[in-house]
Amino acid sequence: MRIDYAVKGNIIFTKEFGKYEVIKDGYIVVQGKLVKGVYKKLSGEFINLKVIDYGNAMIIPGFVDIHLHASQFANLGLGLDKELMPWLEEYTFPEEAKYADVSYAKKVYSSLIRELWKFGITRSCVFATIHKGSTKLLMDMFAKSGLSAYVGKVNMDRNSPDDLTEKTEDSIRDTEEILKEYSNKYELVKPIVTPRFVPSCSTDLLKNLGRLAKQYNVPVQSHLCENYGEINFVKKLHPDCKNYTSVYSKAGLLGEVPTIMAHCVLVDEDEIELLVEKKVFVAHCPSSNCNLASGNAPIRKLITKGVKVGLASDISAGNTLSMMDIIVNAAQVSNIKWIESGRVDKPLKLTELFYLATKGGGEFFGKVGSFEEKYEFDALVIDDSSMPAFKTFSIEERLQRFIYTGDDRNIKVRYVAGKKIEEPKSYF
Ligand code: GUN
Ligand code: FE
Repeated sequence: MRIDYAVKGNIIFTKEFGKYEVIKDGYIVVQGKLVKGVYKKLSGEFINLKVIDYGNAMIIPGFVDIHLHASQFANLGLGLDKELMPWLEEYTFPEEAKYADVSYAKKVYSSLIRELWKFGITRSCVFATIHKGSTKLLMDMFAKSGLSAYVGKVNMDRNSPDDLTEKTEDSIRDTEEILKEYSNKYELVKPIVTPRFVPSCSTDLLKNLGRLAKQYNVPVQSHLCENYGEINFVKKLHPDCKNYTSVYSKAGLLGEVPTIMAHCVLVDEDEIELLVEKKVFVAHCPSSNCNLASGNAPIRKLITKGVKVGLASDISAGNTLSMMDIIVNAAQVSNIKWIESGRVDKPLKLTELFYLATKGGGEFFGKVGSFEEKYEFDALVIDDSSMPAFKTFSIEERLQRFIYTGDDRNIKVRYVAGKKIEEPKSYF
């Protein structure tokens, strides 16, 4: 049965990149899962509608994290004085090997989902591990929580420790099993084809994953051009390929279906052109890029050239799931990029970064991340009344203060696809 209602509060969102829409004391009318419209006053046609009044609170779209590793949550804050390859070997691979044990997965994944809920991450694109049992469990747990996610069983058949290396045939078979079983199992939780990155996948595996993604019409996520050591390794493994991006492209893993590539810190001009042409989403992971000394991704340049971009925590190379902190971090590295590019790449403004954290990443999920008509109603109610205030602020300023100085305690209510989502602890 369709349930219609309206929420009332100080509404702020970005329909366009870099421009807030603000409706003070306004209403969002929700019909079932979808936004019908945003109004200053409710007209006669809505006279009998139930109104949920959030008073002076702000109502913003839910945050979208388009790249994170659920299986690294237990390592949050560990080993971040290393670069990518040693960090993977010393910290990450040994942790991920533990997910052969589904009961361990259940413990950590419950805690992660609660944390995503806390931070208002209503939609996410998630790496699990190579293990099909714990990957399926993660999808089932997300579905129970009411949060929306793409979840990938990771594929790795070479250059990895023995306990985290699959036989090529097993990797393909287990992936296909998940695509068959989960493509239509849930509305808000879907599988995604997830080759870890080029170094950990044979050409045979990459090609088969490209085939499966197309056959089952399932999106793809992976890592691209994050670190110099990684890129040199890819050059050695694929001397015939012009660049890293073309390895994915040759395997049918670049934009044949909707595709997310995380990082893209060190992409060259030819690669940027390919990303534009193939409509690839870049997951910008500023926290991770700072921690592992990967570099400062050329986000303004990518956007100017037409690349789609969303924001991402990339935990546990990133050290926080707070999208507020990630936005601030993205602003800071963009300011540095401005100076270091000889003042070519203009700093990203908060309005632009807020767009990336909501509608930018949300586009990967369809009509998500805005309060325009027919968008899925994902929203957060932000109560900033406990913040010290010695003068009055505009709604835009209040949002700024929440992003720069607020935390999860300011997030009072979460909605996903029209449904209010309660704290998930009782489910597990
Ligand atoms: N490249 C391959 N695997 C990983 C990972 O787990 N994290 C990050 N940041 N980069 C990767
Ligand atoms: Fe990652």
